[in-house]
Amino acid sequence: MLRSDPIKVKEILKHYKYEQSSLIHILQDIQVEYRYLPKETMLFVARELKIPLSRIYSVANFYNAFSLKPKGKHLISVCLGTACHVRGGKRIAEEVERTLNVKSGETTPDLEFTLETVNCLGACALGPVVVVDGHYYGQMTSLKMKKLLSSSKGGRGNGKNEKDNKS
Ligand code: FES
Repeated sequence: MLRSDPIKVKEILKHYKYEQSSLIHILQDIQVEYRYLPKETMLFVARELKIPLSRIYSVANFYNAFSLKPKGKHLISVCLGTACHVRGGKRIAEEVERTLNVKSGETTPDLEFTLETVNCLGACALGPVVVVDGHYYGQMTSLKMKKLLSSSKGGRGNGKNEKDNKS
């Protein structure tokens, strides 16, 4: 399980001069760092900024960009919009669910992958479309998806919390 680093969080708070009005930016930076908002970090931020924890959680719950649950190193978005759906998007989503043993919105226990299904990725002509760590893959098939998952596993992903791999 990923643990937040109080020194890193303090750096973020310092960057924003511990200003309560910068709470959203502070949470954004923490989210980028850890791919979610860890509970102990929210407690720490509340203490340091001298604001109620409930205020932090109301901000975190209001914006979709924030996650209170750990996210995987690799984010897989499978499109189930109409154009992708008619070309087999559902089969691709099922392939990912079966292979990783997760449902949409869930993360694998080893924190490698998070699966989400979305309604359109803006590349309908390439359907079915899957985005892995920001890279678009068109005309996906179950076989291509399987290969993509095995080649992604263990790779760097888009997350920032790979302290040993930071460049
Ligand atoms: S419907 Fe899938 S990219 Fe638009």
